[in-house]
Amino acid sequence: MSKQFDVLVIGGGPGGYAAAIRAAQLGFKVACCESNPYADPKGEPRLGGTCLNVGCIPSKALLHTSHLFEEAGHAFAEQGISVGTPKIEVGKMLARKNGIVDQLTGGIKGLFKKNKVTLINGHGSFVKQAPDGWELKVGEETVLAKQVIVSTGSKARHLPGIPVDNKVICDNVGALDFDTVPKKLAVIGAGVIGLELGSVWRRLGAEVTVLEGLPEFLAAADQDVAKEALKLLTKQGLKISLGVKIGEVKTGKKGVSIAYTDKDGAAQKLDADRLIVSVGRVPNTDGLNAEAVGLKLNERGQIEVDGHGRTNLPGVWAVGDVVRGPMLAHKAMEEAVAVAETIAGQAGHINFDAIPYVLYTSPEIAWVGKTEQELKAAGVAYKAGKIPFAFNGRAMGMAATDGFVKILADAATDRVLGVHIIGAGASDLIAEGVVAIEFSAASEDLARICHAHPTLSEVLHEAALAVDKRPLHA
Ligand code: FAD
Ligand code: NAI
Repeated sequence: MSKQFDVLVIGGGPGGYAAAIRAAQLGFKVACCESNPYADPKGEPRLGGTCLNVGCIPSKALLHTSHLFEEAGHAFAEQGISVGTPKIEVGKMLARKNGIVDQLTGGIKGLFKKNKVTLINGHGSFVKQAPDGWELKVGEETVLAKQVIVSTGSKARHLPGIPVDNKVICDNVGALDFDTVPKKLAVIGAGVIGLELGSVWRRLGAEVTVLEGLPEFLAAADQDVAKEALKLLTKQGLKISLGVKIGEVKTGKKGVSIAYTDKDGAAQKLDADRLIVSVGRVPNTDGLNAEAVGLKLNERGQIEVDGHGRTNLPGVWAVGDVVRGPMLAHKAMEEAVAVAETIAGQAGHINFDAIPYVLYTSPEIAWVGKTEQELKAAGVAYKAGKIPFAFNGRAMGMAATDGFVKILADAATDRVLGVHIIGAGASDLIAEGVVAIEFSAASEDLARICHAHPTLSEVLHEAALAVDKRPLHA
C-alpha cells in the first residue's frame, strides 16, 4: 500500500523543514523524508540538515566558546580581571556544541508533531509521474504526492587527489569535531568556512595557515571591508596566503604535507597536523533519480528553477542549496515559505536583492545589497557614508572599536543600495540595512530614525548622516 500526501518534501534541512511546516500550516497533508546521515544513537533522523547538524549552529557554538577563551586569555587583564592562563577542555566544548545540536534538531521534530507533518526516515527518489502527481520511493516505501518540494541541500566540494577522511583531512564535518587542538592547522580556501573555523582553532591555540587560490581576499565582499578584514584577521594571527596553487597533498604518520606555489610562483611546502578543505559546496542530487524523470539540472549541477522555485516538471519545486543563489540557511527558508505559499495559490514572495550575508569572524562582517565594486562596474552613480566604530561610546565600553559601517546610496534618488559592516554585532546590525533595502528606503530615512544611545546601532545612524555629509560625531 502506498502512502499518499498532498506535499512530499525531500530533505529535512532549513529549506525542507520550513517548507513542510508552512505547507502544513496552509492545510496540506504533508510528509518530509530525510535520508538520515546525522542519525542519533537510536538511528532516528536528526532534522535540520547541514545547518543544524554540521553547519551554522555547531560552528557558531564553537565560535562563541573560542571567543570567550581568547577574551579570557588576552582581553580580560586590560579591564582589571585576572583569571590566570585559561585552559580549554575540548571534550567539554564539543559536548556543549553537541547538546545544542540535539536540542535544536529535537525541536524541529517537535514542530513536525505540532504541525502534523509526517516524518519518513529514508532516502527519497523519483519513480515516475502518477495520474495525480508523482510516485516516489522513500527507503522501501512507495509514496504518492500531488506536489514535491526538493530540498536536498549541498555537500562539501572536495579536491581531486585530496581524500577527505575527516580525521586528518577534513571538510566541515570533521573540522567541527577535532578531539584536540591541532598544533598546526592548514586550511585550503579563505572563504566563510575557512575563516570561521580557522578562527575557532587559532583562538584555541593552533597555528593556522589559510591557502587561498584567488589573488583577492573575500572577492564577493565590498573590497573596503575585505581589506579591513584581512588586516584585522592577520593581526590576530591567521596566516593568509592569497593567489596560491595547491599541488600534491600527502598524509603520513605526522599529519599532512601540502605542496603549493605561492603568488609569485615559488614552490612552497606546508606541514600541518590537520587540514581543512573548505573550497565551496556542491548541490546534492545524489540518488534522486532526477535524470530518469527528466528533472532538469543546470551546468553547475543545481536543479533549475524559475523565480518562484518551479522546476521544469509539473508539481515539482526545489529550494535551498540545491538551487541557484547563495547557499545560506535563511535564503533556503525564505524560498521554502514562498514555494509552500505559491502551491497554496498565494503570492509567495522572496527578494533576492535583500538577502543578508554574515561572516561570524571577530569582528563580524555583514552586508546586504550592492558592493562599491558592483556599483562601479554597473556604472551606477552613488554616494557613500562611512563611520568607524572607534567613534562610538558603546563600542569603546565593549573594547570593540575595530571596523566601520558603510552605506551606499543612489546619487540621484538617495535610495539605499548597499550596507556594509565590519565590526562588533554586525550580524544583528545588518537587519536594519535589510529593512532599508526591502522598504526601498532612502539614506535620509535611516538618518531620521531615532537610534538608542549608547548602542552600536548609532554607527549605522551616523553612516546614514555621513551619506549627506552631516555626521554629528565624526
Ligand atoms: P541542507 O541543510 O543541506 O539539508 C538537506 C537535507 O536533505 C539533509 O538533511 C540531507 O540529509 C537530506 N537529503 C539529501 N538528499 C536526500 C534524499 N534524496 N532523500 C531524503 N533526504 C535527503 N548558512 C547560514 O545562513 N548561516 C551560517 O552561519 C551558516 N554556517 C554554515 C557553516 C558551515 C560549516 C556550513 C557547512 C554551512 C553553513 N551555512 C550557513 C549554510 C547552511 O548550512 C545551508 O545553506 C543550509 O543548510 C541549506 O539548507 P537546505 O535545506 O537547502 O540543505
Ligand atoms: P566559499 O565559497 O565561501 O569559499 C571557498 C573559497 O575557497 C573561495 O575563496 C575560493 O576562491 C577558494 N578556493 C576554491 N578552490 C580552491 C583551490 N583549489 N585552492 C585554493 N582555494 C580555493 O566556501 P566555503 O567556505 O567552503 O563555504 C561553503 C558555503 O557554506 C559558503 O559559500 C556559504 O554559502 C556557506 N557558509 C555560510 C556561512 C555563513 O553564512 N556565515 C558560514 C559557513 C559556510
